[in-house]
Amino acid sequence: MAKVVAGMIGLGTVGTGVVRLLAKEKKIFLKKVAVRDINKARADDIFCSVTNDVYELINDPEIELIIEVMGSDQPAYEYLTAALEKRKHVVTANKEVLAKHGPELFALAKKKHLAIFFEASVAGGIPLISTMLKGLEANQINSVTGILNGTTNFILSSMEEHKISFASALAQAQALGFAEADPSADVEGFDVAYKLSILSALAFGHFVKPDSIYREGITKIGQKDLEIADSFGYRIKLVGTASRFSSNGNPKLDVRVQPMLIPKQHLLANISGSNNVILVNGDAVEQLAMVGPGAGQLPTASAIVGDVINLANALHLPDFAEYFQPEIESGWSTVTDEGNISRRFYMRLVVHDVPGVIGKIGTILGKNEISIQSIVQRGVKDEKANVIILTDFVRHSAVNKAAAELKGCDFLDELANLLAIFEEQ
Ligand SMILES: NC(=O)c1ccc[n+]([C@@H]2O[C@H](COP(=O)([O-])OP(=O)(O)OC[C@H]3O[C@@H](n4cnc5c(N)ncnc54)[C@H](OP(=O)(O)O)[C@@H]3O)[C@@H](O)[C@H]2O)c1
Repeated sequence: MAKVVAGMIGLGTVGTGVVRLLAKEKKIFLKKVAVRDINKARADDIFCSVTNDVYELINDPEIELIIEVMGSDQPAYEYLTAALEKRKHVVTANKEVLAKHGPELFALAKKKHLAIFFEASVAGGIPLISTMLKGLEANQINSVTGILNGTTNFILSSMEEHKISFASALAQAQALGFAEADPSADVEGFDVAYKLSILSALAFGHFVKPDSIYREGITKIGQKDLEIADSFGYRIKLVGTASRFSSNGNPKLDVRVQPMLIPKQHLLANISGSNNVILVNGDAVEQLAMVGPGAGQLPTASAIVGDVINLANALHLPDFAEYFQPEIESGWSTVTDEGNISRRFYMRLVVHDVPGVIGKIGTILGKNEISIQSIVQRGVKDEKANVIILTDFVRHSAVNKAAAELKGCDFLDELANLLAIFEEQ
């Protein structure tokens, strides 16, 4: 049987892993790899022909599929569009380009009867995409919730375990190669927002524009918050969730990424280090959990090479691309404004330790129709104290309004944190 001929764009962390795994595959010939810097030293065991001209791959009639592991939005979008126009199938690990241009890329692939495989774009080594596309086909997916970013989970786990600050945990993650020199995509939640856009396309049939996804990062989480959360029976994790619900008979989507207090006994609270966990809720299967490495060279390459093998096995069958293509509609889904969503909240205020403060806080919360489940004062120091409030279910907009009022009060030194509390749906 003739070998399937592939080209690859990118030979960094993931690309190197792909070359290593493909070396064992008899059915696939990796003809050429495009890189940015042709003079860069590569690992000793990496033998492949390299070029710094991506169009050498795209214009090569022998190459049947392009593996894209270069990352970011542009010029990846330009290259993937050009590859599809030249009738090449695509395997990509690039969540950003899919989240920002998914509707156009899938429409073009459909028009050209080509396949786009993207298992590595969400949750690295965990076979989440193929499970949602094929294994759960008989279900209506109601929600996908998870810890989808290993870097932030590593940072929060280190802060909790070693009682260190966010800055120290980030420096440790960078030294160990778990975080980029510019960590903003991870710690500000952009990476999870891209993944949620892709998961929304699989679960609900449309991509969600990443900038319409409600997003909070983890930079504001302090050691004090972790300690207080612990004393109330919670851990703090960065959670991404995409779920459907009905409001007055109208279908709505709630898609967001935010640090949340998770009850310690819940599975989401028990995933530490750089692992990912995903809970998929389908109407027939009910709840399914998948845990594993969400990144890393070989776990990610495992997902990519799995896609390449699947593609190579089916490549010459009639209509195979239609079989593999997800049913994704053109256009974007809109999401419900976060302010309208009701949940429970944790609020930490640093106040001047003067009589009557708790009563004044209670009055402001009551005026905004916020029921208090618990309010406690902790750790008086330098005439300041932490007041911790756990609310009942309340709209986010009401909590924001109360927070703005509290900020105008002279007894308040700082509104140190406002975080949502996780509830099983
Ligand atoms: N790292 C992970 O654990 C992981 C996990 C899941 C998904 N992903 C996704 O996998 C993709 C690759 O990640 P990575 O960590 O391997 O990135 P990386 O180490 O930064 O490697 C990027 C590679 O792309 C090449 N490149 C960049 N711009 C290029 C351009 N304009 N033309 C040609 N080549 C270009 C670079 O060339 P040079 O080598 O010459 O600089 C490099 O080889 C990203 O989409 C990422 O989100 C990564």
